[in-house]
Amino acid sequence: MLDYTDRHFRFLIRLMSRHTRLYTEMLTTGALLHGDPRRHLEFDLTEHPLALQVGGSEPGELARCAQLAADFNYDEINLNVGCPSKRVQSGRFGACLMTEPRLVAECVATMVSAAAVPVTVKTRIGVDRHDSYEQLAMFVRTVANAGCGVFIIHARKAWLQGLSPRQNREVPPLRYDIAARLKDDFPDLIIIVNGGIQTLAAMHSHLLTFDGVMIGREACSNPYLFAAVDLKVFGTRGTVPTREQLLDAYIPYVENQLQKGVPLQRMTRHLLGLFQGCPGARQWRRYLSEQAPRTGAGVEVLKGATQLIRAAA
Ligand SMILES: Cc1cc2nc3c(=O)[nH]c(=O)nc-3n(C[C@H](O)[C@H](O)[C@H](O)COP(=O)(O)O)c2cc1C
Repeated sequence: MLDYTDRHFRFLIRLMSRHTRLYTEMLTTGALLHGDPRRHLEFDLTEHPLALQVGGSEPGELARCAQLAADFNYDEINLNVGCPSKRVQSGRFGACLMTEPRLVAECVATMVSAAAVPVTVKTRIGVDRHDSYEQLAMFVRTVANAGCGVFIIHARKAWLQGLSPRQNREVPPLRYDIAARLKDDFPDLIIIVNGGIQTLAAMHSHLLTFDGVMIGREACSNPYLFAAVDLKVFGTRGTVPTREQLLDAYIPYVENQLQKGVPLQRMTRHLLGLFQGCPGARQWRRYLSEQAPRTGAGVEVLKGATQLIRAAA
């Protein structure tokens, strides 16, 4: 998720869940091929399993990105066919590619043959008037035949004109039934459902139908949700770490990043929702938001914020 799932966020979530698959922010082929790939692609080994999400529609460029994903040891490369933003549309990628299944298939086939890294696609259930089940099924069939075995389905359509990206995450209704029909019709494909999933109970319920669930906004606003995922969803043994234990584990990472020159706020912004629903959550958020951006701010800010939480408990 753009502006969220950077390496600091992923490190934090990985402290809570060993098994959840993590995704990078969407990186465009242009940024990867003409920018500094190391800056965009480096990650901590603990982040595995990790998928690189790319945005693009030029097969040759995407193939080079797949090679980069393999070189940097990503576990998956995911093509974004779901983003409706104007910028993405003008680059002819993202959700507008739903109307061009053959081009997406060519992209996937070229990526598959370029590198030994699984290629997956994240898509919507339709765009604009191109939103019949038959069109969706044709898209999935065409792209699957090109070598994509995993589809992440954001279970709402997108309107490419007239709605902002934010509205496109809220206004079109969620249609899990359509995603479920895909799973019925393509039982050999791995279908991961996305959209509006906020609780462990909802994850369990979707896992009766789908092969996986993808969590978007709730991961950002309530990251502690992931603390129980290994136990309750992946069925591992152990105990759920407390929020304070997670902080204790995150602080050495923060110290290390500070030494490399990363500003504190880049890491603390991912902690704003950690105490969501707990006494003192508002003070925690306010303290971090005010103190972390100050010049020279260090881990003492986290310690100060923790004192506030303890006092409120
Ligand atoms: C701030 C923000 C950034 C996002 N960035 C991406 C992105 O880079 N790639 C992507 O596939 N989806 C992106 N999304 C969409 C989410 O991945 C997800 O599909 C959508 O929010 C619906 O799922 P949810 O209800 O669990 O949030 C973004 C969403 C938000 C709110």
